[in-house]
Amino acid sequence: MTFLFSPPTIQHFFLEPDDLIAFGPAIQPFTQRVFGLPPERFLPKHSAMLATLRGLLAPSGLDRRLQDVAAAMQLHLHARWADGEVSLMEVVQDMVFEPTVATLFGARFCGRHKLTALRDAFFKFESGFELAASPLPHLLQRSFCAARSHLLSAFRVSVVERDFEGELIGDLIKQSAIEPDLAPNVMLAVLWAALSNSIPAAFWSTAFLLLPQHRSHLALILKSLPSAPPPDAPPSQASEHLASLVQVALDRRGPLAAAVAEAVRLRSPGVDLRAAAADARLPLCDGRLLAVKKGQLLAVSPHESHLDERLFGPRAHEFDPGRPGLAAVVGVAGVGGIAGFAFGGGRYRCPGRFFAEAQIVLAVALLLSRYDVRLVSKDLRTTGPLAAGSSGPGTKEVALSGDARGGPSAKIGTGHHRSSCESSNQGSPGDPNGLLPQPELRRQVGIRWPKEECIVSVRRIS
Ligand code: HEM
Repeated sequence: MTFLFSPPTIQHFFLEPDDLIAFGPAIQPFTQRVFGLPPERFLPKHSAMLATLRGLLAPSGLDRRLQDVAAAMQLHLHARWADGEVSLMEVVQDMVFEPTVATLFGARFCGRHKLTALRDAFFKFESGFELAASPLPHLLQRSFCAARSHLLSAFRVSVVERDFEGELIGDLIKQSAIEPDLAPNVMLAVLWAALSNSIPAAFWSTAFLLLPQHRSHLALILKSLPSAPPPDAPPSQASEHLASLVQVALDRRGPLAAAVAEAVRLRSPGVDLRAAAADARLPLCDGRLLAVKKGQLLAVSPHESHLDERLFGPRAHEFDPGRPGLAAVVGVAGVGGIAGFAFGGGRYRCPGRFFAEAQIVLAVALLLSRYDVRLVSKDLRTTGPLAAGSSGPGTKEVALSGDARGGPSAKIGTGHHRSSCESSNQGSPGDPNGLLPQPELRRQVGIRWPKEECIVSVRRIS
């Protein structure tokens, strides 16, 4: 692969027409080997599918979809999480997995299949995703293949039973004229594209806000959220609160939208791919031209380029939702837009972007307005004055949302969980003191997943 880092070259990477820099051949290993979509049948439908999905998830129709997402998220949150210490990733997966599946695939699909089994299969499929695109025979990737078969057969059964009629995915298949035998594979691609990015993005958006040095951002966000009803309030009050949270989710200029944009920027994919469809010369910053040959695989790295001071200024590595110009998140992602290109760019930019961003804001808003969430850290040496309290063994809760709400600054926890800080205090962008898990850097496609557990304490306040 030839990686392009020069800003003008990145611009060309996204904006050149397909007869110069093409999308289809670059993603073929994924669409063919991973999702099982034969290129000669899928690629002719690709543009129609992309345009249809973009239309179905356009901002104008999100209000209605997000109402359902909010109700489902609330159900999952309250059904499972009582006060105590929990893995933040588990909380987020719970809040995002089923509500997303229900929104995209509908209630009949969710009702027909065992969601815990689907969820297990999805995470096995997800973790084997990149290796499965490589030439390593699938025969040697049993867990991945079993997970894929499980997901495909669930989709197949539901296609036969017409579970998708009237649902977003059914409309997508129908309007882009995908043949019924290919429909399950397209569904698998959409399922993966949606969840493998939104779940870690919601995780990091919450986790960054829990860091002591981001307390002022958290305070501003909590102030911007509608007040939550007490736990014993009548259901009508809870519904009103959910409806106000949906409005928060739709506000692309709000402080929480900015925090999500920053989290996505700092944990963005390692690679976005295209292929040179003809010999070309691309301009570099210093006026020279880079010669590329037909067939060459070209890549940009949102992860690296988002730390490039030429694009994001001298504090590019910091998590700063107050970053001047971040309101540009309202525009379409692209080079020069401060929000960066975690969602790709040009014609092929992510069709689910607006839905994804709103859904992540919704998840974080719901969690932070209904629970007092604190990061449980094993080692507060690096947190300065906030490290007040016991220096003996056992975990402490870093002063977090409670502080932003005016609560105590630090308290002793129970200490039986493994936290990210246990293994290393190595910093990473947005987390200079290494209080959060390191992002997984070996896998390049999609938003980074955390390498380890991140334990938080949760206490229900509403
Ligand atoms: C934080 C969340 C998300 C991120 C960071 C993300 C990022 C991306 C990126 C980088 C691409 C490739 C674009 C390019 O190469 O220029 C992409 C494509 C895609 N995304 Fe997303 N995505 C997210 C959420 C979603 C959601 C929620 C959905 C669906 C509901 C979705 C559906 C898709 C699909 C179907 C494609 C493939 C488009 C094609 O084949 O041309 N994504 N996404």
